[in-house]
Amino acid sequence: MRILQAKDYKEMSEMAADIIGAQVLLKPDAVLGLATGSTPIGTYEELVKRYEAGRLDFSKIKTVNLDEYRGLTKDNAQSYYYFMHSHLFDNINIDKTNTNVPDGMEPDALKAGEDYENIINKFGGIDLQLLGLGNNGHIGFNEPCDEFIDKTHVVDLTQSTIEANKRFFESIDDVPKQAYTMGIGSIMRAKRVLMLVSGKGKAQIVKDAFFGSVTPKVPASVLQLHNDFILIGDAEALSCL
Ligand code: GLP
Repeated sequence: MRILQAKDYKEMSEMAADIIGAQVLLKPDAVLGLATGSTPIGTYEELVKRYEAGRLDFSKIKTVNLDEYRGLTKDNAQSYYYFMHSHLFDNINIDKTNTNVPDGMEPDALKAGEDYENIINKFGGIDLQLLGLGNNGHIGFNEPCDEFIDKTHVVDLTQSTIEANKRFFESIDDVPKQAYTMGIGSIMRAKRVLMLVSGKGKAQIVKDAFFGSVTPKVPASVLQLHNDFILIGDAEALSCL
């Protein structure tokens, strides 16, 4: 595990864009695993800037997103599909047929999971997986539980995640109660994992996840076992270490 400290959110976003940008330069047809949430927004803005400046070419890049709310259509402004298009895909020269987000409208959970794993396998696996960190230690939507779940699956969101994510919805009742998420194995099989953490609110969970025991009760703790895991945090998020 490598921990890189940034002084603030802006510097964290630039450092993340440096690492993702290097991946795109070194392997123009790389498979990027992408994340949503507020933390990576600055990174996507940086990548768009670098594309606009002619420094990055995404035309051969392929992407797989971590997760999607179950039951939200693609045109729902709170869907992760919508998020990815508005923050990144619509603003760079990526071939949209090479971008993937789990299908939140697939009613058959088993099929949704299998289809998504097939896409990852067809791409030959993920070169670089970007992650945020949930307040309760979740990655993607792998919530604290009794075991690590390997592959893409449906999850019941915990009350704390529903609370944390209600800020994006009109009311808490509008927050979906379930989601599809890549599994812990899908994430761990990525060649490199890059996690971003920002703000005081993440400081304690960063300490628990990366300096405590490896346990499915804190899903992100499994990343201690990844052999190319990079954590970039701003000073506040790393303040308990
Ligand atoms: C959501 C996403 C996660 C994300 C987390 C943290 O629950 N499913 O992938 O990491 O939120 O979000 P934020 O970056 O807004 O703190």
